[in-house]
Amino acid sequence: MKIGTVGVIGAGQMGNGIAHVCALSGLDVILHDVDEGAIERGLATINGNLARQVAKGTIDDAARDAAMSRIRASGGLEALSACDLAIESATEEEQVKRKIFADICPVLSEHAILATNTSSISITRLAASTDRPERFMGIHFMNPVPRMELVELVRGIATDEDTFKECKGFVDHIGKKATVAEDFPAFIVNRILLPMINEAIYTLYEGVGSVEAIDTAMKLGANHPMGPLELADFIGLDTCLSIMQVLYEGLADSKYRPCPLLVKYVEAGWLGRKANRGFYDYRGEAPVPTR
Ligand SMILES: NC(=O)c1ccc[n+]([C@@H]2O[C@H](COP(=O)([O-])OP(=O)(O)OC[C@H]3O[C@@H](n4cnc5c(N)ncnc54)[C@H](O)[C@@H]3O)[C@@H](O)[C@H]2O)c1
Repeated sequence: MKIGTVGVIGAGQMGNGIAHVCALSGLDVILHDVDEGAIERGLATINGNLARQVAKGTIDDAARDAAMSRIRASGGLEALSACDLAIESATEEEQVKRKIFADICPVLSEHAILATNTSSISITRLAASTDRPERFMGIHFMNPVPRMELVELVRGIATDEDTFKECKGFVDHIGKKATVAEDFPAFIVNRILLPMINEAIYTLYEGVGSVEAIDTAMKLGANHPMGPLELADFIGLDTCLSIMQVLYEGLADSKYRPCPLLVKYVEAGWLGRKANRGFYDYRGEAPVPTR
């Protein structure tokens, strides 16, 4: 595999997970975020998650230490000049991602592949905002990255075959299973998953059931490992709303209209687990439903 150094832009829940699996597979990682606190929290999360793997016996202490030593944190973009693959995993807003690409492209080496972990935004449109649409890919990881096996690979209209093959080789190398999705809003997993979550929020909004009733119904009645509202909190309600907006606008179909209650929670800053409050309140010992 040609990829030896991976740059990760955004050290939030997905970015730190991507850094974790890359470092554990022997790749050098440069982890960047605009928020220095996010880098510190990201590194602490990686450390804690690696420790959990040691405790479970899936890796040993030496592997954990080696993985941590392969991750270099950087508040500036310049360090990313060393990477063969840069994976953007910042906030799910097109303008944020476009600004990152504008800043990062002059820094990246000519051969570097630029990828995005977007959950829903058009790969072709994002690629067109860069200086390398042929070397641009969607590499969509699942949450939590260390535990979830799947990665969706999404080509833009201009992505060349070498870029696809190198990205597929990268996914194989880190021990994940790749599926290929075409470049349509939200690809495969979120095209199916997010409307279900949005419908669960409508079910709550219309008073059909409480938070607890809806999650229990789907866990025990449909055999889902997590209830849809618990899952929404886990994904992040801002990310859920952004994905629904991309589906609604991109497919121009009213069936994807984001539930007004989801909009209200995001406006309140109740973004789910990462904000300690969403459909559940996580500030106490055990999560408490908010409705
Ligand atoms: N949450 C999920 O379940 C999930 C799953 C798959 C993919 N994704 C995608 O991954 C991406 C990140 O999501 P997340 O859940 O990790 O979000 P998050 O809110 O946990 O983290 C986002 C990070 O991006 C950083 N950021 C914002 N602007 C930046 C900039 N200009 N430069 C560098 N860093 C910047 C923020 O400081 C923050 O640390 C999104 O595109 C999202 O759609 C999320």
